[in-house]
Amino acid sequence: MIASDRINKILYGGDYNPEQWPEEVWQEDMRLFHLAHIDVVTLNVFSWASLQTDDDVWDFSRLDRIMELAHDNGLKVCLATSTGAHPAWMAKKYPEILRTDEHGIRRKFGSRHNSCPNSPIYRKFSARLAGKLARRYGHYDNLVAWHVSNEYGGFCYCENCERAFRVWLQQKYGTLEALNRAWNTAFWSHTFYDWDEIVVPDQRSEEFYFEGRLLRSNFQGISLDYRRFMSESIQECYRLEYDAIKKETPDIPVTTNLMGTYKVLDYQKWAKDMDFISWDNYPRYDAKDWEPAFQHDVMRGLKQGMPFALMEQTPSVSNWHPYCALKRPGMMRLISYQAAAHGADTIMFFQMRQSIGACEKLHGALIGHRGNEHTRVFREMAKLGEELETLGSQTLGGRIHARVALVFDWDNWWAAELSAGPTILIDYVKEVKTWYRRFWEKNIPVDIISVQDPLDAYQVVLAPMLYLCKDGFAEKASAWAKAGGCFVTSYFSGYTEEHERIVTGGYPGRLKELLGIWVEECDAPTPQSHVTFRYDGTSYPAEILCDLLWTEGAVPLAEYENEFYAGMPVITKNTYGRGCAYYIATHSSDAFYDTFLDRLCAEQGITGIAESPEHVEVTLRSKGAVQNYFALNHDSNSSWLRIPVSVRDLLTGECFSADAPIPIEGKDVRILQETN
Ligand code: GLA
Ligand code: ZN
Repeated sequence: MIASDRINKILYGGDYNPEQWPEEVWQEDMRLFHLAHIDVVTLNVFSWASLQTDDDVWDFSRLDRIMELAHDNGLKVCLATSTGAHPAWMAKKYPEILRTDEHGIRRKFGSRHNSCPNSPIYRKFSARLAGKLARRYGHYDNLVAWHVSNEYGGFCYCENCERAFRVWLQQKYGTLEALNRAWNTAFWSHTFYDWDEIVVPDQRSEEFYFEGRLLRSNFQGISLDYRRFMSESIQECYRLEYDAIKKETPDIPVTTNLMGTYKVLDYQKWAKDMDFISWDNYPRYDAKDWEPAFQHDVMRGLKQGMPFALMEQTPSVSNWHPYCALKRPGMMRLISYQAAAHGADTIMFFQMRQSIGACEKLHGALIGHRGNEHTRVFREMAKLGEELETLGSQTLGGRIHARVALVFDWDNWWAAELSAGPTILIDYVKEVKTWYRRFWEKNIPVDIISVQDPLDAYQVVLAPMLYLCKDGFAEKASAWAKAGGCFVTSYFSGYTEEHERIVTGGYPGRLKELLGIWVEECDAPTPQSHVTFRYDGTSYPAEILCDLLWTEGAVPLAEYENEFYAGMPVITKNTYGRGCAYYIATHSSDAFYDTFLDRLCAEQGITGIAESPEHVEVTLRSKGAVQNYFALNHDSNSSWLRIPVSVRDLLTGECFSADAPIPIEGKDVRILQETN
């Protein structure tokens, strides 16, 4: 985790860009930071153009002064490498560092995240800058983390990338014969006889875009490999900087700020190169209360539950949302603690002082355009800062122990949504979230795991829409179920293997035996269809897809009520060794998942860690004998919760005995530590 020997409380602060301000303002910032109990600043996120003005011309003088300023004022520093946007001079001198978009158009200088990840020049310059920064500032005893680049992402389709793609393919497949087989190139006369015949899959070749969105790919195998390749190419850029830094400061942890379920980068692979996970939480104005919780759990799962850093969030508004709705009074505090409740050991923001030009000048900040402490946002932040000081180290390092796991897989996400058919409604993240929500409402901890993670710690593993089922997963899940685990999956699962080739012999391919079924056909309801099924005496809608399946050992638990497949099973249960496997052949309403998952949990002995109404969220982070319950009331009205042990509120000092109703005010938070 973030330099644990250098912190003794939840770090509180965030992105600070003094380079945008005259130095007189810096002293005022220090006064305001002190008032707001800010103790960490993320520096140097976008300063490349001032640090390096030509190939070998460097100027660190201003950053030297900023580092001294932070040090003298007792601030911890998360030091960024500035490589998230290259300088204009570099683009002019070396146009090859510019990206080429999906239409084949080479971009001009502008914006950010603008460098081709396979440009040798970009790679050389960015790693060199990271190394120089580490050499120059690595000795600071207030340096708590390195922050490489910023929110990596995007695609490039330039000649550099095309060449590198061919090399990547050669390494992956070895021979063209193997590649032709994997991509099924006998289709539409695509057989490749020379590696140089392979081109990037973009609008000029295999893919169609409409209004910036990918509509379809004609060759999923190629498009899928390109996504893997791009994610790995960008990861290599990160890794080059990581290595350059580690050479100088092996003990300072290195991270880069991730973005939750960001489709472009396979964060499960990235996590292996990160010392700790950090991420930026910007829920939309209409996000449900459980959605940030889901995102936090995805992020926590990347490093098997290790505490993570909330690197950014807005104190008030995100200017890039369609409607820049203010966080209502109390919301900033509530959502900050929600991060801690799910495993964060820092609460950080974008940004400390609001900029006065360009596209983020209307983004929220600790210090707004008025420039002083007399604002609602400042007051709320200062109050939380003070509270975190009182809380001290009491929650740091706590881990969440879950008996339920939800499988999440980036390759599967890409593949399922690249698929041409069976419906335009395929939405992997939405499906996974659908399953998550009910556990959240019931205060049942959930780990979000990869297909590579071990299953032994779990009683229930849910892997909805596992369209691309990687080698080894079905075997692992089967062995685990045989020993007593309960496996659940859904429609559109098991269709393909790693290379996106159909697993023949009936769907869901490699999962058939475990589930005791086979799916013969799959119907996509149109907007005019009203398919329903009956489960537990109630009728529920069957949406998105309806599998027509046959049992091969499994027991039907629900049947379609209409269509030509009325009477066919839609939910099945297969007893498998000492465990079992459920199959849900369609997508349905929240009411269905409530009923189904509640029954499943009752059967499997899974209970919530606390009792509360749905809008009161309770999590538990434990460290050794210390048990900290986080209770968050997402509703505006006062409410209650019950915990099976006696507790003391670390924020108010109040004590409550086991199972006593604990009142909680609207939008309030309690951190309740178990007492003996
Ligand atoms: C992202 C970036 C920041 C800033 C914020 C604004 O998270 O990392 O640099 O642009 O968004 O919300
Ligand atoms: Zn490129």
